[in-house]
Amino acid sequence: MKNRVLCICLTLLLFFCCCDSQAKIEPTTSGYTCNTNQTVSPCQTYVYYQAISPDFLDLASIADLFSVSRLMISNPSNISSPSSPLIPFQSLFIPIQCSCNTINTSMSISYAGLSYTIKKGDTYYLVSTKKFQNLTDYQSVEVVNPSLIPTNLSIGENVIFPIFCKCPRKGQLGNQTKYLISYVFQPSDNFTSIATKFGSDTQSIIELNGNKIKVFDTVFVPVSRLPILTQPVVAPVSPRNNERKGKVRGLSIGLAVCGILLILVCGLWGYREILIRKNRGNYNDAEKSKIGQKKKAVKVNIMADVSDCLDKYRVFGIDELVEATDGFDDKWVIQGSVYKGCINGELYAIKKMKWNACEELKILQKVNHGNLVKLEGFCIDPEDANCYLIYEYIENGSLRSWLHSSRSKELSWKMRLRIAIDVANGLQYIHEHTRPRVVHKDIKSGNILLDGNMRGKIANFGLAKSGCNAITMHIVGTQGYIAPEYLTDGVVSTKMDVFSFGVVLLELVSGREAVNEEGKVLWSTIDGILERRGGKTERLREWMDESLRIEESYTMDSVVNVVSVAIACLHRDPTRRPSMVDIVYALCKSDDLFSDLSQDGLSPRLIVAR
Ligand SMILES: *[C@@H]1O[C@H](CO)[C@@H](O)[C@H](O)[C@H]1NC(C)=O
Ligand SMILES: *[C@@H]1O[C@H](CO)[C@@H](O)[C@H](O)[C@H]1NC(C)=O
Ligand SMILES: *[C@@H]1O[C@H](CO)[C@@H](O)[C@H](O)[C@H]1NC(C)=O
Ligand SMILES: *[C@@H]1O[C@H](CO)[C@@H](O)[C@H](O)[C@H]1NC(C)=O
Ligand SMILES: *[C@@H]1O[C@H](CO)[C@@H](O)[C@H](O)[C@H]1NC(C)=O
Ligand SMILES: *[C@@H]1O[C@H](CO)[C@@H](O)[C@H](O)[C@H]1NC(C)=O
Ligand SMILES: *[C@@H]1O[C@H](CO)[C@@H](O)[C@H](O)[C@H]1NC(C)=O
Repeated sequence: MKNRVLCICLTLLLFFCCCDSQAKIEPTTSGYTCNTNQTVSPCQTYVYYQAISPDFLDLASIADLFSVSRLMISNPSNISSPSSPLIPFQSLFIPIQCSCNTINTSMSISYAGLSYTIKKGDTYYLVSTKKFQNLTDYQSVEVVNPSLIPTNLSIGENVIFPIFCKCPRKGQLGNQTKYLISYVFQPSDNFTSIATKFGSDTQSIIELNGNKIKVFDTVFVPVSRLPILTQPVVAPVSPRNNERKGKVRGLSIGLAVCGILLILVCGLWGYREILIRKNRGNYNDAEKSKIGQKKKAVKVNIMADVSDCLDKYRVFGIDELVEATDGFDDKWVIQGSVYKGCINGELYAIKKMKWNACEELKILQKVNHGNLVKLEGFCIDPEDANCYLIYEYIENGSLRSWLHSSRSKELSWKMRLRIAIDVANGLQYIHEHTRPRVVHKDIKSGNILLDGNMRGKIANFGLAKSGCNAITMHIVGTQGYIAPEYLTDGVVSTKMDVFSFGVVLLELVSGREAVNEEGKVLWSTIDGILERRGGKTERLREWMDESLRIEESYTMDSVVNVVSVAIACLHRDPTRRPSMVDIVYALCKSDDLFSDLSQDGLSPRLIVAR
């Protein structure tokens, strides 16, 4: 008898111990912690979301909010027609890419970073609780956007909203747990009702989330497969709805026709190219297989590309573009084959290219961040198989044109630091928040544009690659910015962007060109400036941009910090360069330091308005 009691006690004890080790989710004010070593990260998972009036009663606006396409919501949610309106509180499953993100040396939190553009009246709190329905909270938004001031958001600013999510632990991923669905605990819920709703079991939900869940906390529901939602059969139809439906239908037919045309054009063009090459009859085997691959790739990809693009982008007519640029007149050239054009009173930058734009289009449709130049639409000219990408027009031109002209005097240290942080944020986004990762491959001051507020935006994804650690034989890029390992071995990784970013930092501090008249690269001149002891600051002051030295609105500490970051970025061994996450963190620290010491705040606006 005694033995039996002991046995039961031990079992109970063991049980609780097990539970404890299972309950790895620790909600803190800044989110749900995670450990990269123990979880499968990144992973694809889903959030449970309900359509709400007035703004989120159609898939298009919800898809925009979560940066996905409508089909990516309608398929898992058992909705047959993505264009029909939703009814309030209709249930949806929305796919997100969840990953474990390092916040600082002691903390990693698990979330899917969604880029959101601030609109009138938005605050972190309102967007988190209303639009994202408590799938995130304002404290976490603050942690993830260290460079923004929550009380002073400007309209149009891009903020990352960390949607809480969780990846299964290693080993857990198997027959039992495929996804941990993010679900916000509602006032009427209990664990049993949630388990029933998702076809999970109460015990595993409690094991995973602990017992202290409060209303509106996020609960992670382990499921072996996505439950099938039962959707209302017919949405109530009112006459007004009918009219709207007609419009929507007309639009979808129009888009479908455009899509088919596009596919035809691409197909024909690809075919024509192959014919031409064949006729030349002088291609070798390697080229032959490359063409074969390309043809296949074009066929496979175009369907996906085009259907996704049509969802998000405006398709411009070639006559609109011709009119906007006076028939692509030289006087409208911004640079290379990029033209400035005005369509319906809006300025755009129009880039003319051959159909190899596919890669850039494919990459740009995946990214959406305030520090990346935004793609507005595209156009295919069937006549000469040209493709046009239409971007937002960035009024102040490239950083290069500012740094290496008399205008450099107007770039204060504070503005330079802001631009550096903007670019670092943009790079962090493409490196960390896109799957597969995107490597820009051509970061340079000429590809950094400055908007009306002198904020930096990364442009020209023409050379960008998605996917990492590839080896390429065909070296592209710009001399003075290319990482040594890429030049010698063709290794493509995010660390090559880090190297180029280091060069941009040096340009910002020194005002010098990446390659001087004698062909000497800038990054080789920084060697040793901070290393030897004596006269470190003197040497650095000597090396700095003259216009900064005159202005004296900088602190030497801040400059030393930025130069140290640059030197770390320029490490010859790519594995020893910091990641963009670390860089953003280090630069922001410098920003704090600076604003603490100098409150005279030269507003960028004042300078631009002149
Ligand atoms: C993760 O694993 C690496 C090596 O496998 C180890 O150095 C590191 O300390 C681990 N991190 C945590 C948080 O356990
Ligand atoms: C890491 O970040 C968290 C949340 O911002 C903060 O509470 C913690 O003190 C930080 N730790 C370090 C070492 O900076
Ligand atoms: C989110 O949580 C807040 C309280 O924290 C609550 O007032 C609000 O109604 C919740 N939003 C939704 C959509 O449930
Ligand atoms: C708020 O932001 C604007 C522009 O972004 C800036 O001019 C202003 O100084 C900021 N105000 C505060 C209190 O930081
Ligand atoms: C998972 O499935 C495999 C076969 O599909 C089976 O052999 C294994 O026992 C299952 N594991 C669990 C924990 O159910
Ligand atoms: C959970 O909620 C359901 C209805 O939503 C109710 O029938 C059930 O009794 C509740 N269970 C517990 C343990 O409170
Ligand atoms: C999808 O929803 C409908 C109701 O709209 C339901 O009848 C059907 O069973 C669901 N589909 C599946 C595969 O269960």
